[in-house]
Amino acid sequence: MAISRPRSRAIPLLPLLLLILLAPLIYSVSRMRLSWAPEQLPHPDSRKLPDALVLGPAAGQGRTDRLQCQGLKAVNKISLASEGKYSGELVSFVTVFTAYNSDPAGAGKMSSDVVTVGKHSYSKVERSMAILNTFISFIQVSMPTSKVIILTDPKSKLSINQGRATIFPIDGNYSRGNLMLQRIKSYIAFLELKFEKLDQVNSFSNYIFTDSDMVVVEDLGYIFKRYPHCHLALTFRNNKGQPLNSGFVAVRGTSDGISKAIEFFKKVLEAYNLKYMKASRMLGDQLALAWVVKSHLPSAFGKFSSPEIFTGEVNGASVLFLPCAVYNWTPPEGAGQFHGMPLDVKVVHFKGSRKRLMLEAWDFYNLTSELSDMLCLILKSGRTKYDF
Ligand SMILES: *[C@@H]1O[C@H](CO)[C@@H](O)[C@H](O)[C@H]1NC(C)=O
Ligand SMILES: *[C@@H]1O[C@H](CO)[C@@H](O)[C@H](O)[C@H]1NC(C)=O
Repeated sequence: MAISRPRSRAIPLLPLLLLILLAPLIYSVSRMRLSWAPEQLPHPDSRKLPDALVLGPAAGQGRTDRLQCQGLKAVNKISLASEGKYSGELVSFVTVFTAYNSDPAGAGKMSSDVVTVGKHSYSKVERSMAILNTFISFIQVSMPTSKVIILTDPKSKLSINQGRATIFPIDGNYSRGNLMLQRIKSYIAFLELKFEKLDQVNSFSNYIFTDSDMVVVEDLGYIFKRYPHCHLALTFRNNKGQPLNSGFVAVRGTSDGISKAIEFFKKVLEAYNLKYMKASRMLGDQLALAWVVKSHLPSAFGKFSSPEIFTGEVNGASVLFLPCAVYNWTPPEGAGQFHGMPLDVKVVHFKGSRKRLMLEAWDFYNLTSELSDMLCLILKSGRTKYDF
């Protein structure tokens, strides 16, 4: 366990051990699992990470293709959701989320565990639920006709009281060490069920499989409309080791789209099982995804350096490659160059220690009803690593 780490003399062993033993018992597939895994407890120093909103300068000012902000006012982006640019394509969002309810009484209520965002205090368990609920709330704003489907362990007792979200139990092994593998299995099981029912239902939907620490700010339905021949969409970035992010996979809801997606996920599962079981559990699925694309479409790797949409065939599926810069935007970590936020950003991903910012962003939106101003808040704050 983490005890081999150099210890600060200021932190006595017993509380540290307690902390490790009582570590979080709820666990989302989103990147928050990294900081919540017991063996990856933050270094004692990281407890000093900000517990309130921090605003820095807005990157990309002076560039016409980037969001321009005066204070927290967006000056070159007109309001988003209220424009009503509805594509007419129905999209359901699908996310895997699970709760571990074996929580010994009170563990979630340890005072050191509680954080406050605005008027609300959250234990770790509640925080993770708040992220999921915020994910759903934003979809209700940006894509009000969309449903959210939460794939979860039948044993977990999730309760969601949000109109358009439904819980969809799928059997499997959702334990931490198995979660990324299970996520792909749950996607496949879900798509197989949808495939069987295609003839029986008269409502049609496309699917976007995402992490839950994401905020959708614009209608994504139009990707299905504008690229009618694509079965699948993936998001890419200029990152040699992990060029594809597993947090966003779109699937056309036709029988062709669903069956190609099932085949695709099966290939990813196979690659994961064969090659990446030993990889850090956060990376295995991304490495497997990249491996499958590379083995069928090596030319794609020459295109990841430029954030332009392209298409290609992967194992018989027509795949749309979407730049993370627009469809899965996260400010660069650490020393990475930062040129601001593209004006046409559609999805913001609150990776790593940015979950607080996701909740703060919702509070801000709730007060102002201005998504574009909220993007200024995210732009100015997105490079800060927060306390959760
Ligand atoms: C679930 O997966 C974990 C991690 O791979 C493994 O240790 C555990 O034995 C599995 N549980 C079951 C019931 O198969
Ligand atoms: C803000 O939150 C309240 C309470 O949850 C809700 O009724 C209201 O519609 C929200 N406002 C916006 C703009 O989302």
